[in-house]
Amino acid sequence: QLQPVILSGGSGTRLWPLSREQYPKQLLALAGEETMLQATALRLDGLSSECTVADCPIVVCNEDYRFMTAEQLRAIGKSSDRIILEPVGRNTAPALTLAALAAVGEGNDPLLLVMPADHVIGDRDAYQQAVVIGARMAGQGAMVTFGIVPERAETGYGYIRCGGDAAEDVRAIAEFVEKPDMATAERYVASGDYLWNSGIFLVQASVWLRAMAELQPAILSACEQSMAACRRDADFIRVDAGAFAGCPSDSIDYAVMEHLAKRSDLGIQGVVVPLAAAWSDLGAWDALWQIADKDAQGNSGQGDVLFEDSEGSLAIATDRMVACIGVRDLVVVETPDAVMVLNKSRTQDVKKIVARLKAEN
Ligand code: GDD
Ligand code: MG
Repeated sequence: QLQPVILSGGSGTRLWPLSREQYPKQLLALAGEETMLQATALRLDGLSSECTVADCPIVVCNEDYRFMTAEQLRAIGKSSDRIILEPVGRNTAPALTLAALAAVGEGNDPLLLVMPADHVIGDRDAYQQAVVIGARMAGQGAMVTFGIVPERAETGYGYIRCGGDAAEDVRAIAEFVEKPDMATAERYVASGDYLWNSGIFLVQASVWLRAMAELQPAILSACEQSMAACRRDADFIRVDAGAFAGCPSDSIDYAVMEHLAKRSDLGIQGVVVPLAAAWSDLGAWDALWQIADKDAQGNSGQGDVLFEDSEGSLAIATDRMVACIGVRDLVVVETPDAVMVLNKSRTQDVKKIVARLKAEN
């Protein structure tokens, strides 16, 4: 059985001023009608009958967002009674471990499909086909990733060097490198031997827990203690704050994926299924401009926006009208209490402003 695990823990600081501490990006409708969390929860609807999907996704999020998260799930008809609440973020490896422990604790050993809540996937059919292929491999004990043909040297992603064929449309992972520096990323992209890691994973719960026991015993034991002492109220599974505070922080990529190819003694094969599904990690404003509907001059306006003699720009108005005249490659975001004007080539620097605001408050 396929168990969706939605990781919804990020804060999305590079999408300020729309995403805020009180309102992180996965709870916003940035690309279409649904919020990113809702789009993620709906992504498996209509999956091939070859896979049965658990009715209720496991969602792992920060306790501050529990009500909005539950409400957004209910609004699209999804059950919301398996929401695991983290008192603090400890990155994705502990989050997935909590989900695996919750599933195993219910006496199941499902295939966990890790669904980051910060992705846009334009081609749902292609995504679902890749998931079905991945589920076959995960059912045989593999740790499955989904790989994207890289479009540019991007340092914010993981890179996968493909080895031999592991099955039809599946390659072995020869090497996994998380977030390389720019020179290395450029070399990887030029070589044509690497795929981007999409951040979507598929692994049987018991296989994940075995990998953690071998590679990250401190994380596993902190998560076990956190779940053993968890409290349930209403829809929520609240992990024990004291035990979870002591959990080391690490990502699935660093904690496990980088090691797997080097540790054949573990007996867990890392494999990659190619994913050509118009995937995008909505990390920053330029990514949002990329996927948005644009006019002939490449402008995208959301809300009450007017463009005159402008090019390649994105403007979002939430409260007042925004008019752009004679501008090029700008991002303008208007909210009731903040207006941001940004050169589209500098979208990674938004986090500098957020850091300054935090320091000043
Ligand atoms: N519950 C929970 N708790 N979720 C978390 C936490 C946490 O502490 N930290 C991150 N997440 C969620 C985020 O909300 C996001 O949906 C997902 O886990 C991935 O985390 P990111 O922080 O966005 O990771 P990344 O984008 O830097 O890198 C990952 O994704 C890339 C592709 O988008 C890696 O897997 C890279 O290898 C990959 O290329
Ligand atoms: Mg991300």
